[in-house]
Amino acid sequence: MTSYLVLVCVLVAISSNALASDPSPLQDFCVADPTGPVMVNGFACKDAKLAQATDFFFSGLHLPGNTSNPVGSKVTPVNVAQIPGLNTLGISLARVDYAPWGVNPPHTHPRATEILTVIEGTLEVGFVTSNPENRLITKVLQKGDVFVFPVNLVHYQKNVGTGNAVAIAALSSQNPGVITVANAVFGSKPAIANDLLAKSFQTDTKTIDLIQSKF
Ligand SMILES: *[C@@H]1O[C@H](CO)[C@@H](O)[C@H](O)[C@H]1NC(C)=O
Repeated sequence: MTSYLVLVCVLVAISSNALASDPSPLQDFCVADPTGPVMVNGFACKDAKLAQATDFFFSGLHLPGNTSNPVGSKVTPVNVAQIPGLNTLGISLARVDYAPWGVNPPHTHPRATEILTVIEGTLEVGFVTSNPENRLITKVLQKGDVFVFPVNLVHYQKNVGTGNAVAIAALSSQNPGVITVANAVFGSKPAIANDLLAKSFQTDTKTIDLIQSKF
């Protein structure tokens, strides 16, 4: 009984820790070994003696992303997948390019708060608070402006300037994750049944079929 209670307390402590951010490192660094066979919350550590500068390095954020796609934006991520040295450190970065009138469609990061700064151009940004208010908090940002998207909330950016726009986003996870609302709802594999979506979106199945065909 006592050991059961201890176990419950430990589990509660672990899960409440995990709510705030990525787990704190228990060593200077833990360079990800993506081939490691051990399943942990993150990646297994490569031998610290074998760590090199390249494990903490990425080059390429000066390069514009290719925005020739239906939404007119491109995210270039720099997270633990690109920099193995980010493993366990609870932080990452992304560059976002926007063609004129391009959008970074409504999405959430299940594991990170985001702080975004505009490097070039003008962006309309916004996020929506949770139910039942679903309040839209939105602002137009100019070069040098900074905006925060709280963890988990649905948010977007749109280029409302005359030329291209560029932003740099920092995120409070080594692996923030992305759930793009439209892709998750209309582009799942296998698809969510169209009659279910028709009822959910209070429309007809033909409209749902049309949207699903785009994803
Ligand atoms: C950008 O993407 C489009 C569509 O995939 C492709 O046709 C084009 O070649 C790409 N441009 C560059 C510079 O890579």
